[in-house]
Amino acid sequence: MERDRWATKIGLILALAGNAVGLGNFLRFPVQAAGNGGGAFMIPYFISLLLLGIPLMWTELSMGRFGGQYGHGTMPGIFTLLWRHPAAKYLGVIGLFLPITVFIYYVCVESWTLGFSFFSLAGKYRGAVTQESMGAFLHGYQGIEHNAYFAGRGWMYGFFVVTCLVNYLVLRKGISGGIERLANIGMPLLIVMAIVLVVRVLTLGTPDPAYPDRSVSNGLGFIWNPNLAMLRSPRVWLAAAGQIFFTLSVAFGAVQAYASYLRRDDDVALSGIATASTNEFCEVICGGSIAIPIACAFFGIAATQAIAQGGPFNLGFQTMPIVFQHLPAGNVFGAMWFGLLFIAGITSSVALTLPAISFFIDELGWTRKRAVNVISLFTFGAANLVVFFLAHGFMDELDFWAGTFGVVLLGLIEIVVFFWIFGSNRAWEEITRGAHIKVPRAYRFIMKYVTPLFLVTILAAWIKTDIRRVFTMEGASPESRPYMWGARILMLGIITGFTALVAVAARRGSFAKKRENL
Ligand code: TRP
Repeated sequence: MERDRWATKIGLILALAGNAVGLGNFLRFPVQAAGNGGGAFMIPYFISLLLLGIPLMWTELSMGRFGGQYGHGTMPGIFTLLWRHPAAKYLGVIGLFLPITVFIYYVCVESWTLGFSFFSLAGKYRGAVTQESMGAFLHGYQGIEHNAYFAGRGWMYGFFVVTCLVNYLVLRKGISGGIERLANIGMPLLIVMAIVLVVRVLTLGTPDPAYPDRSVSNGLGFIWNPNLAMLRSPRVWLAAAGQIFFTLSVAFGAVQAYASYLRRDDDVALSGIATASTNEFCEVICGGSIAIPIACAFFGIAATQAIAQGGPFNLGFQTMPIVFQHLPAGNVFGAMWFGLLFIAGITSSVALTLPAISFFIDELGWTRKRAVNVISLFTFGAANLVVFFLAHGFMDELDFWAGTFGVVLLGLIEIVVFFWIFGSNRAWEEITRGAHIKVPRAYRFIMKYVTPLFLVTILAAWIKTDIRRVFTMEGASPESRPYMWGARILMLGIITGFTALVAVAARRGSFAKKRENL
């Protein structure tokens, strides 16, 4: 069977940018920056971009394009091609486990953005103008408490089902007909909406003359003035590296699936840079100029910092709706903010399930229809756990192991397999073949030595300072613990399930057969 292909070059770039630009850019980035030293955060952030993000982006794109030539779009098959060791395919299970686990909670947050854009237009939260009342609205929606705004989870569940359905329909249409078409429409729309919102924020000035220090420029100053003392804290470096992985979607095993639909001599070097640049524009310029400055303008810097530290979603879902109610045509801006988040979310979430789907198609010979049906049903079921156990730390547990710990581990494994086992000569040849730009030679050295060393250091620091505390659930309330264990059991189940499927595929000769063609 002929492998699916991207229809156009620009379509591929938009799809890759859509994959990278997501909730991470507009919700996670501002909170990370505000909590880790503002402008000082940008120093480890850009260092991580250059030494981790771009190298891993190139690595994953070339690995995926390479694997695609032999009919493998996912890590078990790709690792087997790069490393002829029986364990290679099992190591690849990490690249199936990570994206699907992130999807299970990502889709929930994505569905809130759809709900809130509807509520903005409908004026449902009108009048909730204090942090307390808007917080009650959010928690009522999430089903964490029952109150005057929401008597139950009905609204949330409805939007959750719709969001899962939209993901399903896009995936059913395949690569060029589904994902690429979505990106062709969604990405330009997203960038236009982001720019409109940035312009609106930058022209706000000092909204309340009674508080001259509460202004957009003070908000921008807060985000951009470097607090250099923070650079001495390892936590800030870890946070910066983690944000780079998350926002670029690298080290999840997901970029490979996209790249496996390329042709042998298609460019990856420029595509990687184009993706990273688009993502950084949407993150640093747009993500950094909306939520934080607007919150500073209305509530002041100290309050904004407190809000950001209160939880990852407070700024986006609680503070932003209050601010919009102070602006003319606020419900339109509100719908635009949450609509922007929804588009950013959906163009990413379809990428998160693609590795699992491609695995079934490539290695078990399933039809796309069957693979999409099974994965959609499974993820829908698992995401229900997040929906109902939200208050009990279920989401945070998945996010830590998959979104934080797992990526650093997989990033390290990938770069070692590619540059040390497959070999740096062949790896470099893969990255530069068909390249539309000249890849700086320094990167050969960086990718072979600096990137792995950086990752080992981060991993070691993490294991030393964090892992024990996290593993023993230090600080978690006794009621939450069973749910957190539930999340761990779910993750173990996913790993076990994929391991078994890899064994089945191996027995059928899926990995051996294609290697002979090499
Ligand atoms: N980069 C996405 C964002 O910024 C989230 C994400 C992380 C992702 N890993 C991924 C998306 C893998 C697609 C595939 O929101």
